Amino acid sequence: MNIVEKINKAKEYILNVYNKKIDLAIILGTGLGSLANSLDNKLVIKYEDIPEFPVSTVAGHAGELIIGNIKGKCVLAMNGRFHYYEGYSMETVTFGIRVIKALGIRDIIITNAAGGMNPDFGAGDLMLIEDHINFMGTNPLIGKNYEELGPRFPDMSKAYNKELIILAEKSAEELGYKIKKGVYAAVTGPNYETPAELRMLRLLGGDAVGMSTVPEVIAANHMSMRVLGISCITDMAIADNLEPLDHKKVLETANKAQIKFVFIVKAIIEKI
Ligand code: HPA
Repeated sequence: MNIVEKINKAKEYILNVYNKKIDLAIILGTGLGSLANSLDNKLVIKYEDIPEFPVSTVAGHAGELIIGNIKGKCVLAMNGRFHYYEGYSMETVTFGIRVIKALGIRDIIITNAAGGMNPDFGAGDLMLIEDHINFMGTNPLIGKNYEELGPRFPDMSKAYNKELIILAEKSAEELGYKIKKGVYAAVTGPNYETPAELRMLRLLGGDAVGMSTVPEVIAANHMSMRVLGISCITDMAIADNLEPLDHKKVLETANKAQIKFVFIVKAIIEKI
């Protein structure tokens, strides 16, 4: 079965369970899954029940699609994503977003936990992703291109939708939150960075560093979706005073920032 057939198989299953219009989708990053609790009239579809859908392996990542309402909009939340460091192919890493687009959804909010490299940031801050640098050394579009998904050479001049960034900034401001903006540098992980690596990533233009999002954003742009990216800065990744970091700390900070994250995302969803 080729990728398009696999996507369609997963799509058909979901449409059999739910076939009304979905307004937008959101991929919930590490520690940010509680937004799913704010959905009304929830319908939960386990990844393991969807044909061809992969299953995630990381602590802090569930494995379910949740369809429900927020502020009068119908939202599909992908709770649990697939990381390259888990050993999945890039095709698998981007499978979820392919299915989301196949369901007819154009707008996607992609979230993650990331290390802050910009000294103006602090742990617990949220950063709107203005642009990214792919330091993963690979690309989800390598291989045969399926024109029904998108072009061989997709444009990335506006990978993150400017209107959505402005709308997100306004939403945060109205709620009294200061939100940061910056460039997300994607590495494969799974180890956190050395000080020398962080010095390099900062010098090359990164404000935050993380191990996800960029493959999904590339696939989303390939399919002409509108992307809003939000990083939760869970730790400061600054070479000169780098403290030891583990996944537990990342989860703890993300959990603390969740209330703010949920407020802001709900306000964004209302306006989209
Ligand atoms: N580096 C890479 N990925 C991350 C980090 C970090 O400091 N924090 C959360 N995800």
